[in-house]
Amino acid sequence: MPACPITTDVNLAAATLRDGGLVAFGTETVYGLGANALDTKAVARIFEAKNRPHFDPLIVHIADAKWLSKLAAEVSPLAEQLMEAFWPGPLTLVLPKTDLVPDLVTSGLPSVAVRMPSHPQARELLLKVDLPIAAPSANPFGQLSPTTARHVAATLGERIDLILDGGPCLVGVESTVLLMTESPPRLLRHGGVTQEQLEKVIGPVGTVSPTGDATDSEAALSPGMLAQHYAPRTPLSLIDDVNLEELSRSGKRLGAISLSGVDAGSAFAHEEILAPNGDLTTAAAEFFAALRRLDAGDLDQIVAWPFSEVGLGRALNDRLRRACHS
Ligand code: TXA
Ligand code: MG
Repeated sequence: MPACPITTDVNLAAATLRDGGLVAFGTETVYGLGANALDTKAVARIFEAKNRPHFDPLIVHIADAKWLSKLAAEVSPLAEQLMEAFWPGPLTLVLPKTDLVPDLVTSGLPSVAVRMPSHPQARELLLKVDLPIAAPSANPFGQLSPTTARHVAATLGERIDLILDGGPCLVGVESTVLLMTESPPRLLRHGGVTQEQLEKVIGPVGTVSPTGDATDSEAALSPGMLAQHYAPRTPLSLIDDVNLEELSRSGKRLGAISLSGVDAGSAFAHEEILAPNGDLTTAAAEFFAALRRLDAGDLDQIVAWPFSEVGLGRALNDRLRRACHS
């Protein structure tokens, strides 16, 4: 397949989705690879294009609340409170599903993940297409999530029908995934809405063990939480797991990624500073693009400095841990 067009024509994107096509589109978090969630043939193409295992369920995107009752068998008062507070925005709610939602979308789970993005162009697209749109991040399975149309074109351009250019993603990390079928709700993935923000509205939420330590029952709750994910091709290690002095002497070409710069700057051929002023929101917006630049820098190894475990720092640490090569 030749490289697909990149467009800003929302009508064309909507028509392509209605015809069963695959359209990558910008959201406030990352670019999604969209298909009509009610068309199993179209959804099957998402898994194919991404090389995504079928046990990893997809998030269904809506702009009009009318779809909620068609997709979710039950919306609790707590879920309504969360929608009121955070929709449209980077919060995905996992709710009991109706029969309308194909099993392919949910990997056979009895629940469906629903999100209402806030990106104006994504909203316009969803309203125009007037269908729920299944959309994982628009990257080959396991690789870095895309935050620009060019990122999508570079890896999936030949496997999909269209890229709707929505500019660079403003949040930069994926949505927060909250399992609403448990009480209290359980945070399955840290993301754009922070745990602190959630807890301000609904009180304490449950969590899952950090990356790599997930129990079997936790993995069953959230099949997509694989230990290695969001990974650059270049080996990446956390600073706590390396001996920097030894590494510097090894003659390897090293890259660094940190919030606001590192003391040992001269040891690195390429240094990415996400937010010199330490602002986590800025850092999140830059995160995946910075990892891509490092990956393109002909380096032997990337060393990452973890973030403080608060707010968006939790989501960024989660992505960093998954980006590590074991
Ligand atoms: O910000 C985002 O959420 C982006 C944009 C495009 O909306 N999408 C995204 O999708 O990150 P994806 O497929 O890369 O991640 C979806 C996550 C996976 O970890 C998956 O396992 C989880 O959501 N998920 C989906 N449906 C689920 C369900 N029914 N139960 C539990 N986890 C679910
Ligand atoms: Mg993804």
